[in-house]
Amino acid sequence: MAYAAFRSIGAYIPPKIMTNFDFEKIIDTTDEWITKRTGIKERRIAENDINPSDMGAEASKQAIQRAGIAKEDIDLVICATVTPDYLCMPSTACLIASKLGLPPVQAFDVSAACTGFVYATSVAKAFIESGMKKNVLVVGAEKYTSILDYSDRATCFIFGDGAGAAIISATDDKEEAIIDVNCSSDGNYDDLIKTPGGGSKHPCSQEVLDAKMACIKMKGNETFKLAVKTLTSDVEIMMEKHGIKNEDIKHFIPHQANYRIISAVGKALGLNDEQTVVTVDKYGNTSAASIPMAMNYAYEQGKIKSGDMVLFDAFGGGLTWGSALFPFSPKS
Ligand code: UT7
Repeated sequence: MAYAAFRSIGAYIPPKIMTNFDFEKIIDTTDEWITKRTGIKERRIAENDINPSDMGAEASKQAIQRAGIAKEDIDLVICATVTPDYLCMPSTACLIASKLGLPPVQAFDVSAACTGFVYATSVAKAFIESGMKKNVLVVGAEKYTSILDYSDRATCFIFGDGAGAAIISATDDKEEAIIDVNCSSDGNYDDLIKTPGGGSKHPCSQEVLDAKMACIKMKGNETFKLAVKTLTSDVEIMMEKHGIKNEDIKHFIPHQANYRIISAVGKALGLNDEQTVVTVDKYGNTSAASIPMAMNYAYEQGKIKSGDMVLFDAFGGGLTWGSALFPFSPKS
């Protein structure tokens, strides 16, 4: 049987920074309030002519180079995004494959909001374990600033832009394989985080535009409570299933939505600050890109080494949630 090894990580961080002080100029808020309620100090903003496929392609180049494979060896491209370049088609994954100059290859997008990268990792693992694919490029790329309503002071300051990417490859060695990826959803909570307009239910119209229905709407406080509960129980199930203790986790990489959520979940799971990767202060919430951007940050800080046990934990619109447990396994 083939196993799936998590070989490399890369990211694209847009250079333009928007600080909390910049938000003080456009909405009724303060740096103090945002910092206290979320831990966010600043977020990155993609330029107008930079799209998720551009950011995803840049992150992918880094991941491919670090994996030490030829781009021609990639046989599947999956892009997790809810802010695709185009609403319906072509997929952002197709555009990334083209921007990387790949030969014709299977490519598609995954829509699972902030859990997207974990969902895409589960798909990559399944394709590899079934023997269908050998080298999967998994991308999380988002341009949330394109769906923000800058008059909604409860939501607009939370999100940012960016991309992360990983190479997941087939291996015979079970020791270096992804242990498990567990994903789930509950559509009964569809109203908590939503872009109500612009899809086929409420197609784009002047009315939809005027009501800013194509922008993200979030019931922040209700989402917050469910996020803490779900992110905690999700990991408890994963750890119990595999007999993993909290001290076995070297890097806990949660979705970066809010420092208070990260801290409450870490505390409930008995994970300390050393184990927990935090980038929400620097990048804000970048949805499907948040986990790979955070992993790349820790990697570039020299903190993530070969064989280190990594735990992803994500939660987002849908509702969706999921976790992934694996040893980081760059090719030696
Ligand atoms: O990524 C997907 C998952 N997403 C999440 O997990 C997001 C989860 N939610 C959150 O991070 C938090 O709920 C928020 C940061 C969005 C909001 O924080 P909160 O502590 O839940 O605040 P709240 O919505 O309960 O609002 C508290 C007060 C309200 O005023 P009143 O009614 O108490 O007078 C709001 O009007 O804060 C007010 N408020 C603000 N004040 C200053 C809301 N937004 C702002 C603002 N600046 N930007």
